[in-house]
Amino acid sequence: MPLLRIVHYPEPVLLTVGKPVSGDDFGSDLARTVDDMFETMYAAGGVGLAAPQVGLSQRFFVMDVPDEEGKADKLTFINPEIIRVEGEQTGDEGCLSFPGLYQTVRRDMRVIVKALDVAGKEFELDLEGLAARCVLHETDHCDGIVFLDRMTILKREMAKRKIKRLQKTGKWE
Ligand code: NI
Repeated sequence: MPLLRIVHYPEPVLLTVGKPVSGDDFGSDLARTVDDMFETMYAAGGVGLAAPQVGLSQRFFVMDVPDEEGKADKLTFINPEIIRVEGEQTGDEGCLSFPGLYQTVRRDMRVIVKALDVAGKEFELDLEGLAARCVLHETDHCDGIVFLDRMTILKREMAKRKIKRLQKTGKWE
């Protein structure tokens, strides 16, 4: 299966609110796209990948944050909705659309999220720590928000300067 091309900031699709997935969109094409996204995410060494990152302006993402035993936990979130948040965490974050850029981002510690799976069935999850961070980061992608927008002004300016440097050296396309 061919890997999908991951688009890099500042591609406009990353800064555009994704369209909700409608009932007609469910089916084999969507299932195939989800499979391709998992493969693309694993190949790139990521734990989450949202549709806009592969050029699709739609509200869904895939994620696999392994549990404590390192067991895979493949999840697909279609039309994700953050129901409730609690607490706070601060930690380094990366993004496959920002190659080589890691920056401290403050996020909620716990989220309750509602979404549809690839079969169109609704589910709700209560997640903490890295999984919560990932859900928030990927749901942001669905809303045209990138992690740059979640940094403090100082960190954002530093990050933008680093991106410019990487662009000049051809390490960012
Ligand atoms: Ni990202």
